[in-house]
Amino acid sequence: MADKIQNAYHASKNIYDDVLTQGSFFSRMYIRFFWSGTDDNEIARKVLLYVPDGFDGHLLDVPVGTAVFTEDKWRSLSNAKITCLDYSEDMLEKAKARLKDCTHISFIQGDVGQLPLADESCDIVMSMNGFHAFPDKKKAFRETNRVLKKGGSFIACFYIKGKSKRTDWLVKNILAKKGWFTPPFPNEDQLLKILNKLYSEVDYHVDGSMVYFRCVK
Ligand SMILES: C[S@@+](CC[C@H](N)C(=O)[O-])C[C@H]1O[C@@H](n2cnc3c(N)ncnc32)[C@H](O)[C@@H]1O
Repeated sequence: MADKIQNAYHASKNIYDDVLTQGSFFSRMYIRFFWSGTDDNEIARKVLLYVPDGFDGHLLDVPVGTAVFTEDKWRSLSNAKITCLDYSEDMLEKAKARLKDCTHISFIQGDVGQLPLADESCDIVMSMNGFHAFPDKKKAFRETNRVLKKGGSFIACFYIKGKSKRTDWLVKNILAKKGWFTPPFPNEDQLLKILNKLYSEVDYHVDGSMVYFRCVK
């Protein structure tokens, strides 16, 4: 499973940014047809609004990917300590190259299921487009919660199943087979049950087959 994920993101490292940001006609058609036009740029923008300007605590970004959506915001938070973690060396290399001049940002190759961080050491845990890729979601929910301080925010967006037959077909038959996504995927009820069990406040939104939210521990 781990190799499948490494290989999938190795193969797509040079097209990843274009597809996610809809940089070409084909990626715009792909998003329109398979994702009902749900715009990852817009979701990323909303998710990043949850991180206050001038934030100066410790933020974990897992998985950072290529930092295509987070670069500008992380760059602007020069008084914060930002830890970026990803399983894929290839994706992490791209993020490092983007943010190499930022001394407040560090990079770790690792697994969200075994975070090399102390309990309650983060003020914010950000997980953008991560949970649909993580192989062990139970561990990922447990670990992201463990490293978060009481009163800290868990902010995320990812795919949930059960909202669109066309998107569910794509995820099951193509994205999961290639290793970009990894099942099982929660539906909305299952996800809300997990979040409500782990967190006290849940500000939750659905956009097509994507959810985005901020939870307070
Ligand atoms: C769809 S990308 C999202 C990246 C970035 N946050 C974004 O929005 O562009 C999913 C990422 O999850 C990473 N990933 C998959 N399994 C992981 C794991 N167990 N631990 C950490 N990262 C993982 C992949 O390497 C990939 O970079």
